[in-house]
Amino acid sequence: MSQVLVLNSSVSGEASASRALVQSIVDGLKGPGVSIVERDLGADPVPHLTPETVNTLRGAPPTTPAEIAARALADSLIAELKSSDVLVIGAPMYNFAIPTGLKTWFDHVLRAGETFRYSEAGPEGLVKGVRAIVVLSRGGLYSEGPAAALDAQEPHLKTLLGFMGVTDVTFVRAEKLGFGPEAREQALANARAEIDRIVEVDFRKAA
Ligand SMILES: Cc1cc2nc3c(=O)[nH]c(=O)nc-3n(C[C@H](O)[C@H](O)[C@H](O)COP(=O)(O)O)c2cc1C
Repeated sequence: MSQVLVLNSSVSGEASASRALVQSIVDGLKGPGVSIVERDLGADPVPHLTPETVNTLRGAPPTTPAEIAARALADSLIAELKSSDVLVIGAPMYNFAIPTGLKTWFDHVLRAGETFRYSEAGPEGLVKGVRAIVVLSRGGLYSEGPAAALDAQEPHLKTLLGFMGVTDVTFVRAEKLGFGPEAREQALANARAEIDRIVEVDFRKAA
């Protein structure tokens, strides 16, 4: 049995491009022996860190009711991640970066001793053997050209995932979604073709 953890983070519901593309990946990966676990960080976000919860989310033992609740949620998110073989993330670009719902998920799961540790050789990721496929949706063009330097979405996600040991990451970019209907259709078609290739070559043939 393999587990696929699906994290959507668009707040645009049915209109979301990343959500539709993530669904194509999920449909491609579904099959006997595959369990799909879904978290909708757009529609049902985990709470932001607060003065009441930050210490326990960073590792201090929980004592107050707020700490106990926050810690239980974070522990379940970490367990969900660590028991997964594939992580599929839908990450729209919001103001050059990732949505706060997705960032807050990382704030909950990045905990020393659980998903990374500090060793004499520096930080070491503890989430091993997880393959990530990340759908990036963007209104503009950032993979090349003058706006590339503004991209705080893809490099940041690569850092966050890599820090916890998830280094096998494939990015599927749907960009220029705001450049008119034709550009949008082309971008979605390109992304779907890339997804078909990933599912076929990396999962079906490898199985
Ligand atoms: C709050 C917000 C901020 C956005 N900021 C950017 C941006 O900085 N750069 C960009 O290219 N597109 C930006 N967009 C456009 C989205 O990236 C684009 O609409 C994308 O399709 C959103 O993903 P989704 O369709 O999965 O929701 C923004 C959209 C929203 C709602």
